[in-house]
Amino acid sequence: LTVAFSACLASGVSAQSLTVGFSQIGSESGWRAAETTVTKQEAEKRGIDLKFADAQQKQENQIKAIRGFIAQGVDAILVAPVVATGWEAVLKEAKEEEIPVILLDRQIEAPEDLYLTAVTSDQVHEGKVAGEWLVKDVGDKECNVVELQGTTGSSPAINRKKGFEEAIAGHDNIKITRSQTGDFTRTKGKEVMESFIKAEGGEQDICAVYAHNDDMAVGAIQAIKEAGLKPGSEIKIVSIDAVPDIFKAMADGEANATVELTPNMAGPAFDALEAYLNDKKEPPKWIQTESKLYTAADDPMKVYESKKDLGY
Ligand code: AHR
Repeated sequence: LTVAFSACLASGVSAQSLTVGFSQIGSESGWRAAETTVTKQEAEKRGIDLKFADAQQKQENQIKAIRGFIAQGVDAILVAPVVATGWEAVLKEAKEEEIPVILLDRQIEAPEDLYLTAVTSDQVHEGKVAGEWLVKDVGDKECNVVELQGTTGSSPAINRKKGFEEAIAGHDNIKITRSQTGDFTRTKGKEVMESFIKAEGGEQDICAVYAHNDDMAVGAIQAIKEAGLKPGSEIKIVSIDAVPDIFKAMADGEANATVELTPNMAGPAFDALEAYLNDKKEPPKWIQTESKLYTAADDPMKVYESKKDLGY
């Protein structure tokens, strides 16, 4: 009983007294909404008082929110940084107040001593996995790929592009013929895909869509169908996130492959934070989450069902 009580005291009391500010990007995608849900659930589970701020996709709002958290004297700050640059000044302010900052799901270009750790996937690897899937799928066939990029200047947009390009390098039959940002949203993914199809001028020559996230892929699928073409067969669809809707599209034969990104970044982030605050245990600078490839051969409806408990 004493052991159980002390264990409870050791984890429970410290967690209960924690106040953590979370500057979230917004709600641009299904994945983002799930990450918000999971973060709130994880905080509640641990008795953490989470102060949530939605930045509506604007870095200036994130900087304002972080300054607000510093002024409130929170114990720590989580931030999902919308873009990769421009964080040094505000992170220095947090550091001066000895408030640890943890980056969630996106990397930044700033000295590492300005944050405690970053919980993210290897985004270059994600792009590579998507590209390698396409290389294998098309074989020797000529393939013109159109790319829907994520938010300009964000680490996933930069890195997923790089990884995909690395994977197709040396395969001269595969070319990226059009590439534009769809800002990680369904609406823009659809709009940009419509403009790509229009630009083909009826001489449809698109063999595949590479979308930096599933939401843009779902928008593109809609645009392809409205143009009287068949996504998943006439135009292959490969994307990233593994949100439930892409598995529905796979089950309907309208999407082909996705690379999974867990929405649970907060679990490892809070583990690292509690170990740091309770036991002075420095976490590694990068806590890497897994990236798993799913294809239409992976029983998509079963995966769809299994996603329901993950904040989706
Ligand atoms: O930073 C992660 C990316 O941001 C997700 O892949 C995308 O859906 C989101 O909006």
